[in-house]
Amino acid sequence: MQRQLYTQPINTKSLHIKTFGCQMNVYDSNRMQSILTAKGFRAEPELRNADVILINTCSIRDKSEHKLLSLLGELKGLKEKDPKKVIAVSGCMGQRMGRALLQRVPHLDLVLGPDAIDRVGELLDGVIHGGQRLVEAKFDNEGRSYSQPCNVHRAKPAELLTIVKGCDHFCTYCIVPFVRGREKSRSIEEIVQDVKNFVAQGTTDITFLGQNINTYGKGTGQKLSELIEAANQVKGLERIRYLTSHPRDLGEDLINQFGTIEKLCPQLHLPFQSGSDRILKAMSRLYNQELYLKKIELLRKASPHMAISTDVIVGFPGETDEDFEATLKVLDEVKFSGAFLFKYSPRPGTKAAEFGAEVPENIKDERLARSQKILNHHIEVENKNYLNTVIPVLIESMDKKKQYFSGRNPQNKLVHVMNIGDASIGKIIDVEITDTNVSCLKGFYVGAPKNEINYRRIENHISSSLSPTPN
Ligand code: 5AD
Ligand code: SF4
Repeated sequence: MQRQLYTQPINTKSLHIKTFGCQMNVYDSNRMQSILTAKGFRAEPELRNADVILINTCSIRDKSEHKLLSLLGELKGLKEKDPKKVIAVSGCMGQRMGRALLQRVPHLDLVLGPDAIDRVGELLDGVIHGGQRLVEAKFDNEGRSYSQPCNVHRAKPAELLTIVKGCDHFCTYCIVPFVRGREKSRSIEEIVQDVKNFVAQGTTDITFLGQNINTYGKGTGQKLSELIEAANQVKGLERIRYLTSHPRDLGEDLINQFGTIEKLCPQLHLPFQSGSDRILKAMSRLYNQELYLKKIELLRKASPHMAISTDVIVGFPGETDEDFEATLKVLDEVKFSGAFLFKYSPRPGTKAAEFGAEVPENIKDERLARSQKILNHHIEVENKNYLNTVIPVLIESMDKKKQYFSGRNPQNKLVHVMNIGDASIGKIIDVEITDTNVSCLKGFYVGAPKNEINYRRIENHISSSLSPTPN
């Protein structure tokens, strides 16, 4: 008799995780995918075909929450057709609304907040086997470790890694401290081990994540600069980045590292939010325009080719034309390499939501468009400067139509490369830039003929080229 070669996993349900929001949510979704894969769930690429649909949500702006509510509305019919389907919501909106979300959406089975991610497996068991509708949206006040490493099955060339969660700043517009709780840092030792695990699977570019990453280690005696030094020693790791910095907390030790730490990429995301000192004060940002510009100057002194990106909010309550002009001045002076521009959106429970003096929507739209124009102009000029230069690009993926490959340079510019094949994925190659626009650079690998476009199909390219572990 032939011996059975494998045992059937206990759970054979299929799972689709849909992620909204920031990089931290992407990382959280990867963690949940790892936990649930280990429990026997199969990944299902099509949301509608999955037995378990898990939606990882964002609360940062009203629009983000609307997206979830409309998706949940669309899923009602699916649940009616197949009552065994499980629909779950995790992330910031789960934390913010908790039981109220379960009450509002009768076809929802499970709501969990970001602090319950390590319990996603047992919570789903309760729904699937116990037939319960569950909510787990308490903050973890017991100091439960959230260090469970991301047990990756398909590490990508560039990976994200959360090192500190929560935020102790209470910027008056921001919901993050209410939905992610207070700052809590992981230890350097644990993080370096995670980095090594990623590198062992082929990752060479790591981005450390934290809502306010500069104060990493608060209360533990460890500092972000020490973590960067430790990561710089990891063999096989080529690039280190981190997000998001706060202008007040970005200290000189961190700034100087851009000129001294070999693997630290010359790139930083440093939100300024507003150029007006009056608005910065109302936002409780704890710096003024002068201090912000000083930090930019120091960064460029430490690393002259530094790419700096930012976040801006237009239409904060009480923002006058004069306040807004100050924002335009900073955009024009700094010449950012990229930016996320947002219209202010009042969030329930935040101080700014009570300020009144709302800026009308049409003025917010106008200010957004004017900011975007200045931003785009400087990005276009910067990108044109790359023409005819040769830059190192870490190739990460192939486009959906399988016509070109994409990756990033140390400054985090998106680069499309025309004349390479799937063997390049995960490698850093020299690319000559021949074309640019506001959103990307395009070019050719200098080690191959320019006109040889490779259209080869590469299903599962990441697992086959990088991961030795089969699913
Ligand atoms: N309205 C608009 N933008 C916001 N952000 C945070 N809260 C709000 C809000 N209420 C933006 C900030 C922050 C980024 C992640 O989202 O610019 O840096
Ligand atoms: Fe929100 Fe960032 Fe301010 Fe923290 S520092 S409250 S995450 S905007």
